[in-house]
Amino acid sequence: MTKYLNLFNRTIMTNIKIILGSIREGRKSESIGKWVLDEAKKVSNADFEIIDPNEYPLPLFSDTIPPAYAEKPYKDEIRQKLSDKIEEADGFIFITPEYNHGYTSIIKNILDSFYKEWTIKPGTFVSYGGAAGGSRAVEQLRQVLVELQMVPIRQAVHIVGVFDAFDDKGLIKEEIKSKHSLDDVINKIVWWSEVLKEARSKINN
Ligand SMILES: Cc1cc2nc3c(=O)[nH]c(=O)nc-3n(C[C@H](O)[C@H](O)[C@H](O)COP(=O)(O)O)c2cc1C
Repeated sequence: MTKYLNLFNRTIMTNIKIILGSIREGRKSESIGKWVLDEAKKVSNADFEIIDPNEYPLPLFSDTIPPAYAEKPYKDEIRQKLSDKIEEADGFIFITPEYNHGYTSIIKNILDSFYKEWTIKPGTFVSYGGAAGGSRAVEQLRQVLVELQMVPIRQAVHIVGVFDAFDDKGLIKEEIKSKHSLDDVINKIVWWSEVLKEARSKINN
């Protein structure tokens, strides 16, 4: 069940955003994000969309007012556009590289720039890196998500040995894909997204 009926009996699809966690030239997040999107569309009829921070060059957060108390619309046009995207989402898949045993500043800036847009929504992770497969970044991110009143779910994918994970065309190798239970992660994030969507509707009423 990935559909939801609103008051007017219109069908609203469960909406899940796949957020790329890096912006550098030659980044792997783009290819990994595409794999996640393709697989998600095969597994579920929820509405999946990639959010590429390169398409939303968000300024570093520097407001006087913390986002939890901020009035919308935001003055910055890009911030408002990204806010609309995050607002419409019911759940998130963070494509998470590990930079110096942590998550990237790009992800932190996106998280810090908003508040109500995130609350009572679930998040999962497809992380990657060397020996730890980005899992150190994910453990740190889970703590941050809790402060935003999000629900970081248990299931996630951690790709170990990212440097050998791609073919000559820059696509993730089939043998790497088959090592991971991405389908299960997608099914779980869709389930949590639906559960929390209903929970949010009760708070608003
Ligand atoms: C600034 C920087 C720091 C990194 N630190 C780590 C690290 O601590 N652990 C790790 O497993 N990989 C580390 N790496 C390697 C990344 O996992 C690898 O380059 C990955 O492809 C980065 O994601 P991206 O290509 O999407 O930017 C680091 C890479 C960069 C650019």
